Amino acid sequence: MDDRLQQLAKRLSGATRVTVMTGAGVSAASGVPTFRGPHGLWRSFRPEDLATPHAFARDPRMVWEWYDWRRSQLAACEPNAAHDVLARWSAHPGFTLITQNVDGLHERAGTRDVIRFHGSIWELQCAEECRGSGSGWEDRTAHLDPLPPRCPPCGGLAGPGVVWFGEAIDPAVLARCERALACDVFLSIGTSSIVYPAAGLVHAAKRLGAFTAEINPEATEAAGDLNLAIAMPAEDVLPQILGSVTSSCD
Ligand code: OAD
Repeated sequence: MDDRLQQLAKRLSGATRVTVMTGAGVSAASGVPTFRGPHGLWRSFRPEDLATPHAFARDPRMVWEWYDWRRSQLAACEPNAAHDVLARWSAHPGFTLITQNVDGLHERAGTRDVIRFHGSIWELQCAEECRGSGSGWEDRTAHLDPLPPRCPPCGGLAGPGVVWFGEAIDPAVLARCERALACDVFLSIGTSSIVYPAAGLVHAAKRLGAFTAEINPEATEAAGDLNLAIAMPAEDVLPQILGSVTSSCD
């Protein structure tokens, strides 16, 4: 095993609390496009046209066509080896998984209690009368009909249950993350680490004393501040260190 992997495995096996933050790269091997990079979604689409409250107010149908297209792509994707390892680790009490991904692949792999930092593409929420009442609902249909969908109780427009640029993170989600920062190892996997506040979590964990590591084939700007950077794909690294968390968090 590579020296860096050994170092991470050793840290994990000595840890009682482990927190993992994932980004789009963890789903890349499942065929889900990332946002940035040569084939990233934001190369072909402008976030300001599709992923802001203003874009939705201006053209809800266009926004929904894009989300509907992504839902149909995701419906055909399966969790990969990285999701599977994280699902196994989630069976241990000291383990927390935070994800920026809205794709639902961690849950499909069997991960328990996922903290969804940016929401879920499989949830819908009222954008009109019931907004803010916490009345989101799940709908896993690959193609929604009608488009844009309507809120069942009030008949108003419904939006995707995701966090858009310029929107605040749910305070309950932030509170759960805050608790997970007090850990022995904080592992950041498959994220470009540039979208805040998500990108700030690994640095906050380090300030609180966690050993911090990144798994990403391309070292990010955050890597310089972390204890360890492993420049390999998540689906290659995680199966090699699968056993490290098994006994430690129990
Ligand atoms: P990005 O697309 O910004 O970054 C994906 C990262 O994954 C890149 O740094 C890649 O190098 C890395 N990567 C690619 N393949 C990988 C692999 N096999 N194993 C490990 N890493 C790999 O995606 P995020 O950082 O998740 O926001 O983006 C953050 C947020 O920006 C998203 O949650 C989304 C987007 O706009 C919202 O939806 C609000």
